[in-house]
Amino acid sequence: MQRLDRNYILLGLVWVIAGMVFGTWLGATNHMNYGNSHAHMNLLGFVASVLFGLLHHVYPTLRNSRLAVAQFFVYEGGILLLIIGKILVDGGQETLFLQIGSLVTILGALMMLILFAKDAPKTA
Ligand code: HEM
Repeated sequence: MQRLDRNYILLGLVWVIAGMVFGTWLGATNHMNYGNSHAHMNLLGFVASVLFGLLHHVYPTLRNSRLAVAQFFVYEGGILLLIIGKILVDGGQETLFLQIGSLVTILGALMMLILFAKDAPKTA
């Protein structure tokens, strides 16, 4: 069985290191135009990934279906595309990464909602 709780938290911690390094760079070099990319890296990458990991830890029954593994890859793939898109847009470029990434990220969040509604215990 996949340890999705561990995988999510591990990846969230990778995101926070990347977000902090990026935040330090943008602050130190006065590239404030990248503040929005930095915020999404930390909030969608770190905060939401760790929260999803904690949900998997608190509700181990969520891990039982193949939907759970698919949800992990869809969500993390979606935010990667979204964040690449944000960085390009903050840098003044046009890109479809942001639109595609946004839709895949929403799909990933929706899959987590379905997973939770379906597999979290309904009674104590
Ligand atoms: C070493 C750690 C970090 C550094 C050096 C850093 C640095 C920065 C800098 C320089 C800005 C731009 C401020 C401005 O536009 O005036 C910023 C914005 C922001 N940061 Fe961080 N940050 C760090 C960690 C985090 C973390 C862990 C989070 C969230 C969990 C976070 C969330 C945000 C948000 C929401 C904004 C506002 C973005 C916006 O207005 O578009 N940051 N940060």
